[in-house]
Amino acid sequence: MKSKASAPGKVILFGEHFVVYGVKAILCAINKRITVTAEKIPMDKILIRTNIGKLELPINKPIVDIDSPLKPFYYLANTIIKKYKQKTGIEVFVESEIPSGVGLGSSSACCVAGAAAISRLFEETSKEEILDLAIKAERTIFPNTSGADCTVCTFGGLMEYDKENGFSQIKSNPNFHLVIANSNIKHSTDTVVSNVKKFKDKNEEKFFDMCKKESELINNVLTLLKENKLKELGKNMDHNQEFLENIGVSNKELRKMINIAKKTSFGAKITGAGGGGCIIALTDESNLEKTLSQIRWKNYDCFSVKIDFKGLDTF
Ligand code: PMV
Repeated sequence: MKSKASAPGKVILFGEHFVVYGVKAILCAINKRITVTAEKIPMDKILIRTNIGKLELPINKPIVDIDSPLKPFYYLANTIIKKYKQKTGIEVFVESEIPSGVGLGSSSACCVAGAAAISRLFEETSKEEILDLAIKAERTIFPNTSGADCTVCTFGGLMEYDKENGFSQIKSNPNFHLVIANSNIKHSTDTVVSNVKKFKDKNEEKFFDMCKKESELINNVLTLLKENKLKELGKNMDHNQEFLENIGVSNKELRKMINIAKKTSFGAKITGAGGGGCIIALTDESNLEKTLSQIRWKNYDCFSVKIDFKGLDTF
């Protein structure tokens, strides 16, 4: 018997970095997915096959001894084998529409779809239980993850998140297309976050003033999302980008991409940690194609997405 599940990637629309210091962030799931197929196999092994490589290990290997980006899948399969006292192994096959390592939530989507596909080999599992397991799996590679990414990949839609109150879904259905352009510069979220901390330590007053302004911007954005005011949302994206420039997470390449995207879209900014990764530009039917072709004309990888309202899906 095979069990299959898929989960969407995500973007941070507003509030990255400032969220680390208590400001609200707004995330949304995107209609690009990871699909995981799991199957019991008559061997005491865990086999993982993906487009970024393979992993084949005996069951019950200590997780700390595994050095592979596919470790979360091993963790999931091994945990479930132990939970159900299985004598045999599991094979996992992963298909992805989401580029990895550029802040689009591919690892969270892997953990959520992986947790669902593997646990449903044994019994029906609630979204809440799958989320809990997915966050534990993601912590095997990103120990400090807040869990916000896995949460939005599980439930889909738009979500606000802050450190103190956790996440809550935003009941808006804005009608936008996002253009995502990939700088193809790999970035380490940890390094960029620690550089921001250095900036904050040197510029306490300026930084907390920006946090206050970012908080005001986010509150304004929450209203604009409900009213589907795309032009104004775009202006807020530009404004949010100025804050990200000020704290040093942008660079020449990202600025160049943002300036191209801004010519035709409603607004554009970095999404995620910065230093590399992706930018997003806000559009609707009137300027989507123009924005895509402007960015492609300059030879950047780009594609468009909409909000995914489904979240985790199982087959
Ligand atoms: O690039 P991503 O999607 O991993 O986003 C990082 C978001 C930060 O705010 C920069 C860090 C964090 O832990 O919230």
